[in-house]
Amino acid sequence: MDILVVQKSCVDVDCDGLIVNLFEGVTIPGGATGSVDAALGGAISDLIGTGELTGRLGQVACLHTGGKIHARRVIVVGLGKVDEFDLDRARQASAIAARAARTARCRRIASIVHGAGVGSLDAEAAAQATVEGAILGLYHFPAQRSETAEPQPREFALIERDAKKIERVAAGAKRGRITAEAAAWARDLTNAPANQLTPTMMAQAADQMAREFGLKLTVLERADMEREGMGALLGVAQGSDEPAKLIVLEYAGGGRESLAIVGKGLTFDSGGISLKPGENMHLMKDDMAGGAAVLAAMRIIAQLAPRITVYGIVPATENLPSGRALKPGDVVRAMNGKTIEIISTDAEGRLILADAVAYAAKLGADRIVDIATLTGACAVALGNQAAAVISNSDELTRQIKQASAQSGERVWELPAFPEYKEQLKSDFADLKNSGGRNAGTITGGLFIGAFVGDRPWAHLDIASMVWQEQDSGYRVKGATGFGARLLAQLVMNIAGR
Ligand code: BES
Ligand code: MN
Ligand code: ZN
Repeated sequence: MDILVVQKSCVDVDCDGLIVNLFEGVTIPGGATGSVDAALGGAISDLIGTGELTGRLGQVACLHTGGKIHARRVIVVGLGKVDEFDLDRARQASAIAARAARTARCRRIASIVHGAGVGSLDAEAAAQATVEGAILGLYHFPAQRSETAEPQPREFALIERDAKKIERVAAGAKRGRITAEAAAWARDLTNAPANQLTPTMMAQAADQMAREFGLKLTVLERADMEREGMGALLGVAQGSDEPAKLIVLEYAGGGRESLAIVGKGLTFDSGGISLKPGENMHLMKDDMAGGAAVLAAMRIIAQLAPRITVYGIVPATENLPSGRALKPGDVVRAMNGKTIEIISTDAEGRLILADAVAYAAKLGADRIVDIATLTGACAVALGNQAAAVISNSDELTRQIKQASAQSGERVWELPAFPEYKEQLKSDFADLKNSGGRNAGTITGGLFIGAFVGDRPWAHLDIASMVWQEQDSGYRVKGATGFGARLLAQLVMNIAGR
């Protein structure tokens, strides 16, 4: 879909569907919505008057213009109450309005920038959010079935009448296109079935992206991992016939800061010998969503070009049972020399991340953020509303919370009290890979933290956020691409842009 920015009054815009908005409780629309209402002889005010349109968040009304303005249809979207409004609601409203336009068969959509007026958001941030909402809200995974879907719009134009704002709107639109297209790519990778996204194919996808956007890529093969002593990652991989890959992307933007983002790339998690129940096992193709978020964040970073060095690291493997698979009770040695007793082969994410974060430390990253669908307990704690953060650094946690507020990808901090580490003590090795049911998300995170040394580190458990059962705002059914925009925003903030 083409993203355009047009300097015009809404009533002069030629398109199939023009999106305007309304705050809840407003009886006489002003601004752009007001001018469209006037041109339509008060048609929007009429809907408000009868109570059909209240401006409730996500409510939509579609009106045919009968040639009174250049647009064929007007779609009014509710923004909710003014005092509850924020950037993420702009994103959500934009998504819902764009989907309503698609349902009305609009191919060319135009939209005002949500929240830049009465909502008092910064024009650039609001434009970015409006574009992100539209692209992500219209996202559609091309499922391999013969039934045809609604035709996708081919153009989305942001309308801004004010010459003083147009440059900022254009900058925001460009940023929004870059971030949302990358997040959509993360969704594609995550929605892909495990037989069409093996570790080898994930490395190929990273390679293609690295070439397109100018990143350095190295892929460590099994022999390389053996040389590095990555017994934890190789232990998980040994049950599968598909070779594991350690994908390492590097963005060298100069500056003094460096950061590694490390994402779990488990292309299919059966649980291994500690086999998962059959129900919903098919969803475990999404266990590489953290890896996808890292690849997509690197794609954003390459285009926004901050002054910082960033490593994007994705250990990619399957977790399958076989005659060669890891068994409960086995002991493996990670690349930093620590030994691990395997209690459950289903606690495999922390094993592959142990070696991956140790490798990030070896590369010299002075901060490490890992992101993973690590524990079912994360969804028990937080539901489908936030990812968990566990960290050894208040400063890094603060930066993550800030990036979270900007990206709308919600996080919630869980405590990292040292006493939790008692649960990871083993009689047979330095650590065991499961701390039991209690505080499962915390002990899972702290396990990974045992491999980063003493540098600032944070762990994001996104198991609660990567999959959506139904459309909700800009998160549509299926993979959400969660984390890609947050990680990129974090990097931009640390680099100071
Ligand atoms: N990939 C799963 C976590 C998961 C479960 C994500 C359900 C999304 C939905 C992870 O590898 C796993 O199996 N974790 C175990 C850890 C336990 C064995 C310590 C879990 O959560 O049960
Ligand atoms: Mn598992
Ligand atoms: Zn897993």
